[in-house]
Amino acid sequence: MSEAQANIGVIGMAVMGSNLARNLASREGNTVAIFNRSAEKTRAVTAEFPDAGFVASETIEEFAASLQKPRTAIIMVQAGRATDAVITQLTEVFEPGDIIVDGGNALFTDTIRREAAVRATGINFVGAGISGGEEGALLGPSIMPGGSAEAWETLGPILKSIAAVVDGEPCVTHVGTDGAGHFVKMIHNGIEYADMQLIAEAYDLIRRGTGKTPAEIADIFAEWNTGDLESYLIEITAEVLKQIDPQTGAPLVDVILDQAGSKGTGVWTVQTALDLGIPVSGIAEAVFARSLSSKPAQRAAASVLPGPDGDFVVADADAFVEDVRLALYASKVIAYSQGFDAIVAGAEQYGWDIKKGEIAKIWRGGCIIRARFLNRITEAYAENPALVALVTAPFFVDVMTSTQAAWRRVVVAAAEAGIPSPAFSSSLAYYDGLRAERLPAALVQGQRDFFGAHTYKRVDQDGTFHTLWSGDRSEIQAVDSH
Ligand code: 6PG
Repeated sequence: MSEAQANIGVIGMAVMGSNLARNLASREGNTVAIFNRSAEKTRAVTAEFPDAGFVASETIEEFAASLQKPRTAIIMVQAGRATDAVITQLTEVFEPGDIIVDGGNALFTDTIRREAAVRATGINFVGAGISGGEEGALLGPSIMPGGSAEAWETLGPILKSIAAVVDGEPCVTHVGTDGAGHFVKMIHNGIEYADMQLIAEAYDLIRRGTGKTPAEIADIFAEWNTGDLESYLIEITAEVLKQIDPQTGAPLVDVILDQAGSKGTGVWTVQTALDLGIPVSGIAEAVFARSLSSKPAQRAAASVLPGPDGDFVVADADAFVEDVRLALYASKVIAYSQGFDAIVAGAEQYGWDIKKGEIAKIWRGGCIIRARFLNRITEAYAENPALVALVTAPFFVDVMTSTQAAWRRVVVAAAEAGIPSPAFSSSLAYYDGLRAERLPAALVQGQRDFFGAHTYKRVDQDGTFHTLWSGDRSEIQAVDSH
């Protein structure tokens, strides 16, 4: 048996796991134990990265023995059954006080369940969201750990050593207990979905409205990336649009099948938000847009459906591109605002003390949704921790003031041209719903009371009421709500 020489272990040597292990090994003071279900993979990684000084094990017992106490191991395997299997293995060889970290994209309710089960054995369990893809795992991800304060004491310094750093601050914080970390990572992914869909809509509108080539639009995105919209997703969009397919010489984006896949975190975000009663319409439209794209039979059948007459060509291309930029900015603010609403609701529902400003801070670097304006979100929550909707913070009111007219023009143009812009338009509808002095929800309440005696409240009196709708004359009853 190898002697206990590693201070941290990683299980799962697929690319995310091996990159995270290499990241850990590159930091001063870390010796990293590694283990994979198939020993072949472990041997391959050890041979490929000899400088990492990995302590490789071929059995879970050896792996546990190679770790100093309290033992800390990060699981980087597929979410779901594979994760459960590794947790079971680890709980058999670990001791009370040791720490198991799940660094995969687990569903937060699974993490709550696992945390409770593992805690019962005296072992700590931490669900940690890790964002930044393969490169982030290697060079510095954004990390969203949940779990106990006790586990964070040991784990904090290790995670801080490998996280991305922005303005001297590592992009990791103890998000909250049990599933809080994975919950916040799930919302991160939901925002990621919305942001990607919004960018895709912006590209589509510009391409179809101005006739610009993908390469020309790449330049526009590169330019946008020097301003308010500066973000990782805008940056990589320029790269993707620039890419030429070596086989055909065509822009790669024209060769890629237009059916977007997903691994499920966006769906989870929307399902969770529905349960919490939080309108995350931008995120939901992004998820639905991927679903629609992946229905080739329906899309083919729908070719018989009429669209608007004539071609869509904007009169002033530069002005239109600027309008699209502003519409993207406004819609993006809404996506974040809705995401933070979901975080607030989740924290309340599950009893987590989540610091919204800290979340925005750790999303500034390493993660997929890193963006310049996250600093503004941190500032907004620092100024007013009780902010009821992010979009109502003074900075974002100014953003909306300078973007909303252009946003409307873009949504109108898209509707008239028959170009789908579900995320742009649903975000605008949400925005207008939020600021409406009076909503037609009053009529919905009337309808509910009519057919189901569901009752309603009045604007001018306290209490609960029901109208006797039958006959010519309506009669109103006060209903005892107890
Ligand atoms: C990240 C990403 C990462 C991954 C997701 C989304 O934060 O690094 O969100 O977790 O890309 O699985 O993938 P899908 O688009 O396939 O759902």
